[in-house]
Amino acid sequence: MHFLITAGGTREYIDLVRFISNASSGKMGYALALAAIKAGHKVTLISASDLQPPVGVYFVAVDSAAEMFTAVKRLFTKCDRLIMAAAVADYTPVKKLKIKIQKSNKNLAIKLKPTTDILKWAGRHKRKSQTVVGFALEDKAVRTGAEKKLREKNLDMIIANTPAAVNSDVASVQIKTPDRKWLKLPHATKTQIAKKIIDLLTC
Ligand code: CTP
Repeated sequence: MHFLITAGGTREYIDLVRFISNASSGKMGYALALAAIKAGHKVTLISASDLQPPVGVYFVAVDSAAEMFTAVKRLFTKCDRLIMAAAVADYTPVKKLKIKIQKSNKNLAIKLKPTTDILKWAGRHKRKSQTVVGFALEDKAVRTGAEKKLREKNLDMIIANTPAAVNSDVASVQIKTPDRKWLKLPHATKTQIAKKIIDLLTC
């Protein structure tokens, strides 16, 4: 089976040297890539993280949400399973200046525009044989929020977690597919959780 996995927090550049990003480390996406490799699958990892890629993956480095979208569009048709573990920025600066902004004593406003929802695009464009998996980071009403994403993005699986999982080696996740009840995994390392997710996606 061929897994396409995204990981890390995208960087949305404001000028030559400054960017907006988030606290995602990429650990969950990398753990999933490693678990899939260990289970004997082919893995393409599209990453916005600085972590060292697991041996055996086909690695595509990206910075921004736009670059990640381009890479997913290029590689999606070849995969059986897409797992969007990346924390893709929801907004990006309207202007990316090709200079370094000089400091002044005036307020500075940065205008942002929405990025394309890559997961939603994949949910719309998937073939019957393809499975599209998303993550939902919810700080309240975890199940309600995640189920809304599952439905609205036409996903085959949503993995809900909480802000405590960000940049951590452990997490507590709950998993929902359209036709099954919620599955709550025990609090565990991301390595253990990743193995379970890969098992669920290949059984
Ligand atoms: N996602 C995406 N493209 C975006 C934004 C998010 O593909 N432009 C994906 C993420 O990889 C993740 C899921 O969508 O799998 C998260 O859903 P989202 O609607 O962004 O929810 P948020 O509440 O913004 O979630 P999160 O903080 O979990 O990113």
